[in-house]
Amino acid sequence: MVDHVKILVSTMTGTAELVADEIADAISGKGMEAEILLMDDLGADVLEPDNAYIICTSTYGQGDVPDNGQAFMDDLEAAAPDLAGLKYGVFALGDITYNQTFCNAGHLFDAAFKKFGAIRIGEIMRHDASSGELPEDQAGEWAEGWFNQLQGS
Ligand SMILES: Cc1cc2nc3c(=O)[nH]c(=O)nc-3n(C[C@H](O)[C@H](O)[C@H](O)COP(=O)(O)O)c2cc1C
Repeated sequence: MVDHVKILVSTMTGTAELVADEIADAISGKGMEAEILLMDDLGADVLEPDNAYIICTSTYGQGDVPDNGQAFMDDLEAAAPDLAGLKYGVFALGDITYNQTFCNAGHLFDAAFKKFGAIRIGEIMRHDASSGELPEDQAGEWAEGWFNQLQGS
């Protein structure tokens, strides 16, 4: 049984961090501890089976992970950890203007977690910066839905 949700944030200009704050509030409001960690100094050893994880990431460059998340992604690929049974979700921020690479960093993390045996809870949330909706306004409702699915899993 999961007793802690860790929200791992990869961002270039801070929007994903605002989203993470809303997600953390929504999950704490449901009575579970939630912790936000910027990916900057993280390695694959942050992934422990007693926790569930939410990857909260924007996309830059040619569909790349933001700079502060690249070392974590590299470490994940190098360490090839056994993530069997670990539960996670993905909130991806992007812009449909980049239609070939829309929210690609979210998909890259999803593929890596899946490859090592983790189980995604719910669909990948893909926020479009061109939509006129702020991602932080959508994050709380998404997180509540995600949390309910986690509890039922
Ligand atoms: C230079 C640049 C490149 C971007 N490249 C992509 C991209 O390839 N795919 C995508 O979906 N969004 C792309 N975006 C949009 C950002 O991911 C989006 O604006 C996001 O909300 C930024 O979140 P952040 O402040 O957490 O970094 C790009 C934005 C900029 C400024």
